Amino acid sequence: MTLASTTAASSAVHSARRNGLNLNSIAATNGNPSSPPVMAHSNDADEQYWSAIRDEFPITQNLLYFNNGTMGPSPLVVTERVTDRIKHVDATGDYGGDYEGIRTALAHVVNAESGDQIAFTHNVSEAISIVSSGIDLKAGDEVLLTNQEHAGNAIPWLARKKRDGIEIKFVPLTDDKWNAFSDDEFVQRVSDAITPRTRAISMPHLTCTTGQLLPIKRLAALARSKNIWFLADGAHPPGMLQTDVRDLGVHAYASCGHKWLLGPKGIGFLYIAPDFMEHVIPTWSGGEADKYWGYDARLDFLPTASRYDFATQNFALFDGLQCAIEFMEKIGFDKIEARVKYLTNTLRTGLHEMSDGKFHFLTPESSMTGLTTIKLDKMNYKDFADKLMANCKARTRIVPEGGLEASRFSVHIYTSPDDIGKFLEGTKSVLG
Ligand SMILES: Cc1ncc(COP(=O)(O)O)c(C=O)c1O
Repeated sequence: MTLASTTAASSAVHSARRNGLNLNSIAATNGNPSSPPVMAHSNDADEQYWSAIRDEFPITQNLLYFNNGTMGPSPLVVTERVTDRIKHVDATGDYGGDYEGIRTALAHVVNAESGDQIAFTHNVSEAISIVSSGIDLKAGDEVLLTNQEHAGNAIPWLARKKRDGIEIKFVPLTDDKWNAFSDDEFVQRVSDAITPRTRAISMPHLTCTTGQLLPIKRLAALARSKNIWFLADGAHPPGMLQTDVRDLGVHAYASCGHKWLLGPKGIGFLYIAPDFMEHVIPTWSGGEADKYWGYDARLDFLPTASRYDFATQNFALFDGLQCAIEFMEKIGFDKIEARVKYLTNTLRTGLHEMSDGKFHFLTPESSMTGLTTIKLDKMNYKDFADKLMANCKARTRIVPEGGLEASRFSVHIYTSPDDIGKFLEGTKSVLG
């Protein structure tokens, strides 16, 4: 690949952005990678294509950004869509927009029945709170979580415990030495933890701690077989792994636009299955959540998930999310998943080569996603994160949850193999 061809591809994408993001034509011209789930190699044409996409992300100019799992930086086209919309609202007073179109776009992303099953939220935590506060639970009823929850899936349930005296039980994901249980063993442990008082199970699809993929389909089937509600904390998969909520069989799936979907920050969503809707009573509400717009002493919630979002919203954020989804759809969610796995494979291979006596992997090998977590043998995990930043401007995520004291790295479509090389060099130098 020559500099000239890279520049040509990059400027082609920039003009594509101005003209409505026609990335398909870039892909057709420069090689559109088709790949098995984990590619071992990537050719120059593939790299030229991904390099042009990378150029769309301002963050790549500033950092070795390995923390998409916390915050997904947006491509410029998304930021521009948001700011343009904000300016438009304040110039015209026209503050509404096509909310239903965005529900439909999100429904496609997770293969929901339709946009009617999608509620807008500000983040994952709010989506989980809609369920945790909306279902019928009494003192003594039990809810099962794992022992490595993000606060976003723990605090909404702990708040309900404080309010109504429910019991929370934490099912361990690993043995005492942090070895992840197999899917069979974990499903068995969840099954063993269920009692006649168990009313709900709320667990991550992909843990934020070690990047362990949980057997959600099996867990949801187990829950359904015992008339227990099953909510998946889906903060991570959408935008990284192709996600199918109907195939998973969950009652609800909580996610966001600000991680792997690369949308604006402060926007999330909740999928509610049709058979679950009537069991989740909106805890707080407002105009447009009911059938009779305006107050006339009646209340009949809408039969759709829009009953959970209401009143004046910041449409610019939704418009930005729509734009991010369009950006990703033009690349193709299947290609994005394959690319993330390819990059993760490259990262893990490099880490393996230098791990001896320095660290070990906490991520199960079978969980091939954008997240990789290691536990250092000799250095403090917080010092390591600080030193990586000082050494090579690499932003990573510390993992204090569950007492793990580990280090997490994420890659996404804007990460280049060259970034990974620099990151590995930095890691080697910091660990000595
Ligand atoms: C697994 C998981 N659940 C929930 C959350 C909370 O997300 P939010 O800040 O959108 O509520 C996160 C955030 O990192 C997460 O990783």
